[in-house]
Amino acid sequence: MNLPTNIQTDTQTDKQITPLKTNLIDGKTIADNLRATIKLDTTRLSFKPGLAVILVGDDPASSVYVSHKIKACEEVGFYSHLIRLNIQITQDDLLTEIAALNHNAAIHGILVQMPLPKHINSQTVIAAINPNKDVDGFHVSNAGALMTGFPRLVPCTPLGVMALLEAAQVQLQGAHAVVVGASNIVGKPQALLLQTAGATVTICNSKTRDLTAHLRMADIVVVAVGKPNFIVGSQLKPGVVVIDVGINRQDNGRLCGDVDTASCMGIASAITPVPGGVGPMTIALLLSNTLKAATH
Ligand code: GUN
Repeated sequence: MNLPTNIQTDTQTDKQITPLKTNLIDGKTIADNLRATIKLDTTRLSFKPGLAVILVGDDPASSVYVSHKIKACEEVGFYSHLIRLNIQITQDDLLTEIAALNHNAAIHGILVQMPLPKHINSQTVIAAINPNKDVDGFHVSNAGALMTGFPRLVPCTPLGVMALLEAAQVQLQGAHAVVVGASNIVGKPQALLLQTAGATVTICNSKTRDLTAHLRMADIVVVAVGKPNFIVGSQLKPGVVVIDVGINRQDNGRLCGDVDTASCMGIASAITPVPGGVGPMTIALLLSNTLKAATH
């Protein structure tokens, strides 16, 4: 789909630059296709892949994400088990829950929704998950496997971004990719995946001195900072592919990404919408990781 474009002017000649057509990368459709494949593969199994999702507390955004994950499992024929725990649960009691899931043969994937309350050490919790059931790919042994070039279970959102780039036929070899945000969940694994695919990768963080200078050099920009409309089109190189990982709720109740999509029209060659871009891919890749954990 092409949307209206922004008129740009060359700052030196004052001449108008012909705006590019900006394609929207339809994550919903790409995710639906992947989910259909997973559903078909599941019908061929003699058992149901099982996913356990642990939610500590009742943060509204986390509750919504978790319910989407559970619903997606049901739709493809998985067994799913949602464990809701009181926000005051002790770390030891949470570790006991995880130990039980590690030993439960009907459960092939375990996901602890992040963030956890401050009194719980998330690294200790992640370390307690059997790496073979770590469908988030957060365990150090899975992170290390990705780092050293032998990926096993890889975080869902960065995998989803790679699937979007592939579906949009974006050339990665030799491309300069700028990843904005350096989290363990998205930024760091994203950079590794892009680098493995042959891109030259820059990772920017909140201390980066001149973010715009980096963005201007990028053929591909992946943004995961959790700040509404943080990046605008005038910071980008014409023709860039923009992947917006952010999902932010605005004061008016509507969702927006970390990128101001409207200002990128006519500048980016392709961009992911929010909602309907990366979000559905994260869930589809969670299903894919669960199937992988169940069958490998
Ligand atoms: N919180 C935000 N994204 C994620 C994710 O991919 N997995 C988990 N477990 N928690 C999250």
